Amino acid sequence: MLSVRHLLGIESLPPDDILAILDLAERHVELGRRGAPAPGGLEGRSLVTMFFEPSTRTRASFELAGQRLGAHVLNMSMTSSSLKKGESLIDTALTLNAMRPDLLVVRHPASGAVNLLAQKVDCAVINAGDGRHEHPTQALLDALTIRRRKGRLQRLTVAICGDIAHSRVARSNILLLGKLDNRIRLVGPRTLIPAGIETLGVEVTDDMARGLEDADVVMMLRLQRERMDGGFIPSEREYYHRFGLDAAKLARARPDAIVMHPGPMNRGVEIDGTLADDINRSVIQEQVEMGVAVRMAVLELLARGRSRGAGGGDD
Ligand code: NCD
Repeated sequence: MLSVRHLLGIESLPPDDILAILDLAERHVELGRRGAPAPGGLEGRSLVTMFFEPSTRTRASFELAGQRLGAHVLNMSMTSSSLKKGESLIDTALTLNAMRPDLLVVRHPASGAVNLLAQKVDCAVINAGDGRHEHPTQALLDALTIRRRKGRLQRLTVAICGDIAHSRVARSNILLLGKLDNRIRLVGPRTLIPAGIETLGVEVTDDMARGLEDADVVMMLRLQRERMDGGFIPSEREYYHRFGLDAAKLARARPDAIVMHPGPMNRGVEIDGTLADDINRSVIQEQVEMGVAVRMAVLELLARGRSRGAGGGDD
């Protein structure tokens, strides 16, 4: 069981909960790889997903995770729902709440929207990404990938590169890796690094060579143009030249450094396509596999914390 009733962010998640999720996820990876029968655990429970922003892998991953555990899964298509007719987020949530689901997975373009929603419903709420704020299951799946590849989740040097300013993935990863005592370097153009971020205990540089020096993990981020309202970068070509990861830039990192990307990728903008596909360096596909296992663990642990059919919990 977890100490929290909802998974809203890494900020409010104690290290013991992080490790409990990763340990259970590890078991799901092994079962999955052996092709063992689905472990159950959520039979008779219902899971609703509400995505107010486009998503491919995160949504599919939650859906598959719920199904493997035997839950009933309902994907609300928020583009065709009554939101189009002007219903507010809260009214939609209250309507859903009356149907008594056990678990609700929400993605929303506004930072803080998922926290607000969690205060209005009885079920356990999981944040699948809210604006630039947090994306906790992405950080957890990244942590599992790193721990499996590096054999530990401490005392690692992790370079997080690119569009930090618009990235909830970066924020959740900084918080998680920071809680577990790692050295974090943020690398990107000054226009894409939020002012004052050093207070989170990270180092900042706009020089890829310096940022990647002796890194154990190189995490690339997508240039999130849909969240940009001005000229943050001169041109994609110049951006790739200075900040795009290719074999030459990666040579500054440790020889056994792994390359990560949460997807979706802009090949030739933040990362060279050949490097992204290089199975000796890139763990991008493994991240996707870990995503299902981590989400299974999160769903299971949150459901265990709820007594059947009740609000449960005190968070
Ligand atoms: C990320 C997201 O939506 O925040 N993608 C994901 O969940 N795999 C990162 C991104 O969109 O660039």
